[in-house]
Amino acid sequence: MSELITNKRAAGFFTLEHTDANSAARVGHIATDHGVIQTPIFMPVGTEATVKCVHQRELLDDIQAQIILGNTYHLYLRPGLDVLKAAGGLHRFNGFTKPMLTDSGGFQVFSLTGIRKLSAEGCEFRSHIDGSKHFFSPERVMDIERTIGADIMMAFDECPPGTADYAYARKSLDLTHDWLRRCVNRFNQTEPEYGYHQALFPIAQGCVYKDLREESARFVSELDAEGYAIGGLAVGEPTEQMYEMIEVVNAILPQDRPRYLMGVGTPINILEAIERGVDMFDCVMPTRNGRNAMLFTAEGTMNMRNAKWAKDFSPIDPAGTSYVDTSYTKAYLHHLFKAKEFLAMQIASIHNLAFYLWLAGEARRHILAGDFVAWKRDMVERMSRRL
Ligand code: GUN
Repeated sequence: MSELITNKRAAGFFTLEHTDANSAARVGHIATDHGVIQTPIFMPVGTEATVKCVHQRELLDDIQAQIILGNTYHLYLRPGLDVLKAAGGLHRFNGFTKPMLTDSGGFQVFSLTGIRKLSAEGCEFRSHIDGSKHFFSPERVMDIERTIGADIMMAFDECPPGTADYAYARKSLDLTHDWLRRCVNRFNQTEPEYGYHQALFPIAQGCVYKDLREESARFVSELDAEGYAIGGLAVGEPTEQMYEMIEVVNAILPQDRPRYLMGVGTPINILEAIERGVDMFDCVMPTRNGRNAMLFTAEGTMNMRNAKWAKDFSPIDPAGTSYVDTSYTKAYLHHLFKAKEFLAMQIASIHNLAFYLWLAGEARRHILAGDFVAWKRDMVERMSRRL
């Protein structure tokens, strides 16, 4: 492990194992000091150092999570850096032994805090918890992400809405690129605080404008980073435009580095993006929609509050991969949601996350088998149904 203790690029971080002959889909793996991540992969979101409603044991054993997310904005505000440092980093704090990734706060500062002041220097914002005033600069965010100690750190960016006009998108992209340069400088000047390697992923932005997306993809590619993210998508733009932008960016990003599409999306969005060459995903949908009684399955979506399930004593998902799928019935889960029992949210979160992980694993299997495109077409049709 010791040869990886560096802030320089670790050899063999990402290995591209196979590229699909009929699409841009890829299979690979990422080697971190907390374990290997097989791509394509879905990363459950653990904003506040927890994937909501789910124990670490369930994440590891049942859901088969290989990496989870944390959020710089939330963790900085609570529990705060003193606690995280004293704990010895996020892994020690929450007991998740596998890889973790921290988003930079570039998205949350803009989406969660009503009062913010944006300047070339950084962003002033008020805490959504107590209204206190804070300032994030690219340098500050790098220092915070070092202290949190995730295996993959995200650069600090601005994520404009999908409806931003060209003039705003242009200005915003210049700001994001300037911040990125500063992030890289600070990252290279600092060391990991807990002895294991941390990678920095730049984020390509550019809204729905092809020339800006191309410029951003070229700009980030020149940094020779260990991996790259595509940000600013699924933020209000039409889905077809999102797919088009993914194609534009992936045509430029280097083949031999992992590509992470941030905050996306539905199971169908994920398969479409895998087909276009994306390797990593995160989204609150499986957990948030799950807590709201919506289940994703290979045969379509189910609203568990619907009265049609009241006397359906079949398993939640006979083909599901987690223990909740066959240990509980639809009627029971329907009852738990109607009774507002916490167990309802736990079951739904575990089911949905296990489904997302299964889907990414199946995509991987079919890419390797050479029949990904046909499998994907069939899955998209099946998953589009409402049960
Ligand atoms: N999460 C979803 N989209 C984004 C984005 O554009 N930037 C960041 N930092 N996080 C995101």
